[in-house]
Amino acid sequence: MTRVLITGAAGFIGSNFVEYALHAHPDWSITNLDRLTYAGFRVNIQPFEQTFPDRYRFVWGDICNPWMVEPLVAEHDLVIHFAAESNVDLSVIASGEFVRTNVEGTRVLLDACLKHGYANSQRRILIVSTDEVYGNAWQDRPSLESDPLLPCSPYAASKAGQDLLAYGYFATHDLPILRTRCSNNYGPRQDPTKLIPRFVLQALHNQALPVYGHGQNTRDWIHVSDHCRALDAVLHAPEHHLGEVFNIGADCEKNVLEISRSILNYLGYSRDLIEFVPDRPGHVRRHAVNSAKIQSELGWLPLVDFEQGIKETVAWYRNNPTWWRAIIAQQAQSLPNYSDVYGFERWLAD
Ligand SMILES: NC(=O)c1ccc[n+]([C@@H]2O[C@H](COP(=O)([O-])OP(=O)(O)OC[C@H]3O[C@@H](n4cnc5c(N)ncnc54)[C@H](O)[C@@H]3O)[C@@H](O)[C@H]2O)c1
Repeated sequence: MTRVLITGAAGFIGSNFVEYALHAHPDWSITNLDRLTYAGFRVNIQPFEQTFPDRYRFVWGDICNPWMVEPLVAEHDLVIHFAAESNVDLSVIASGEFVRTNVEGTRVLLDACLKHGYANSQRRILIVSTDEVYGNAWQDRPSLESDPLLPCSPYAASKAGQDLLAYGYFATHDLPILRTRCSNNYGPRQDPTKLIPRFVLQALHNQALPVYGHGQNTRDWIHVSDHCRALDAVLHAPEHHLGEVFNIGADCEKNVLEISRSILNYLGYSRDLIEFVPDRPGHVRRHAVNSAKIQSELGWLPLVDFEQGIKETVAWYRNNPTWWRAIIAQQAQSLPNYSDVYGFERWLAD
């Protein structure tokens, strides 16, 4: 058995990755270390505990706690690091937890790997960074792996800190680290504070979809299943790629207005539900990555067509009220100012 430690797998991408990996790698035994913050949910991972009791286990704990992290790192061969504070809007309100989890948590993890013999070994550490570290993409081309990091939000800056810290540990200590910078994901199990699930649920409740500015900010959207396959490809990259970064994107740039219209279209609601609200400070105009490297070096390609993927995603949220009600109930308890910032808990009374 290959022993795989995955951090933050009670969240959106991590839970999708565990689901993918349990099927794709029958020889993997997975431990999920997650603190279950306002973005981590037992309901996302309980099916794995029931279906794969011998190959999946959950450990509740904080990535910043070395007493928790060290013994886990010691007993695993692969580490895939998703755990993060990931909500850009919340990082604008307060950034302390973002620096703590994303930078200090990564430092604790890397020091544990160092202490337990990962350097110059066959073991591997995959750091799931983000394309947000680049800040605005150029007008005339998507971001390349060699571009400077110019993060525009406290979230993105904390991820840039994580990303560069990981490179520093590779360069200094020969830790077998790989990093990925993926664009915006969509798919099932993304929490309703994020754009697509939020807009689906607001439309279903006949509430206005709040679009920042003029809705012209674009993102390069990728289905989470394509991201999971890409992470697997990078994890198994030939040894000469150690220390490198791989961009992951689907060449699918859409602005927020286009996304809003697609959602309303699939749900059969009027576009009048779109409401323009004042822009977010530091709002990035364009995120887009050039994925030529992962395509040519590792043979990965995105498979999910956007129109099909968004249609299925909208249907997933509409058809899973038990899921989103459980998520909202937990977030209302654990996120300070939830009623003022989101106010979704009022839907629980319906
Ligand atoms: N969502 C995207 O579009 C996207 C794109 C590129 C990269 N990423 C990166 O992928 C990773 C996963 O993103 P996501 O959207 O699934 O995030 P998410 O917010 O849905 O999940 C984060 C998970 O980390 C856990 N966590 C938070 N702090 C922790 C701590 N201190 N200790 C242990 N666990 C903790 C949470 O409980 C949660 O389960 C993040 O590192 C994010 O930066 C996300």
